[in-house]
Amino acid sequence: MRHALPGEAVVAEITELHKGYLRADAIEILTASPDRVAAPCPYSGPNLCGGCDLQHASAPAQRAWKTAVVREQLARLGGLPDVEVTVEALPDDGFGWRTRVRYHIDALNRPGLLKHRSNEVVPIDRCLIAHPGIQELDVLQRRWPDADVVDVVAPAEGKAQIVAGQRISEFAVGRRFDLAATAFWQVHPAAADTLAECVLQFLAPKSGETALDLYGGAGLFAAALAAQGCQVTMVEAAGEGVKAARRSLGDAVQVVESSVERAKLPSADLVVLDPPRTGAGARVVRKISALAPRAIAYVACDPAALARDLKTFGEEGWELTNIRAFDCFPQTHHVECVALLVKIV
Ligand SMILES: C[S@@+](CC[C@H](N)C(=O)[O-])C[C@H]1O[C@@H](n2cnc3c(N)ncnc32)[C@H](O)[C@@H]1O
Repeated sequence: MRHALPGEAVVAEITELHKGYLRADAIEILTASPDRVAAPCPYSGPNLCGGCDLQHASAPAQRAWKTAVVREQLARLGGLPDVEVTVEALPDDGFGWRTRVRYHIDALNRPGLLKHRSNEVVPIDRCLIAHPGIQELDVLQRRWPDADVVDVVAPAEGKAQIVAGQRISEFAVGRRFDLAATAFWQVHPAAADTLAECVLQFLAPKSGETALDLYGGAGLFAAALAAQGCQVTMVEAAGEGVKAARRSLGDAVQVVESSVERAKLPSADLVVLDPPRTGAGARVVRKISALAPRAIAYVACDPAALARDLKTFGEEGWELTNIRAFDCFPQTHHVECVALLVKIV
């Protein structure tokens, strides 16, 4: 149920009926949780903008809720009960972190954001989680007769801008990345370094080791591993990620343009994988397992997909030996996890 908190008594409206489960919105709070706060954004709430679904909870309560979700998914889908994990805050106040925003345009040419699980546009005049540079643009004050969407980006270097085929600079792991404004990059300004530090902490790479960065994007983890003296091969399907990595990392990393499913993967001491929300899937998990690396770091933006893949890794003889989770998307239900796997001997 959206818009409620654990322990609350609410009046709920059922929004979707499925065999075995329902979806619902809390539309009236009868007994409020002590963790409930007034959502600062007027567009947050049932039947409004679908972006921030946790603004009604205090920041610690949001993280406690996400912690419970991660643990529950690992137990239910991963067969991993009692995993010790607590969602950690990033250095922020929970607002103004979103460096990439896609505004949708409604039939009256007004910009806005989409309702939850819908294509209906909610026109807005401000988004509080958007980066301050994005909030300063006049995108939301204008009308957009010729557009379906307007993408905006606040890169690490230079001003926030509307995306229109340009290249931008981002900084992480002590280096500059030169990428198309439409290429994948972590959305929270602190996420890239936080996740890369965690991957290095988990893998403890040694100079001279071989490493694979699968679903590499612009080469974030490849760069971090190369800086530790590893010989890194990165695999990425999207051309703009491949171009960004080649431009940014030069000869430091071998960049393969391919889907991970189709790529011929060389054996490696270390593997980091960071698949899209659907996860890697059983076939890719078995492909990675067959490489017999010393350690695997799995970076995941969907705990359910992570849990399913961890189950497959478990069937292949891999043990989850560490996991951390980060609040890379405050005010929303999203959470990022990094898991460490080693082979059971
Ligand atoms: C979550 S992003 C991670 C990117 C990078 N690791 C980072 O943190 O910046 C996932 C990346 O996987 C790529 N991708 C999606 N499906 C893929 C596939 N089947 N094979 C290879 N890359 C894929 C996407 O283009 C995207 O760059």
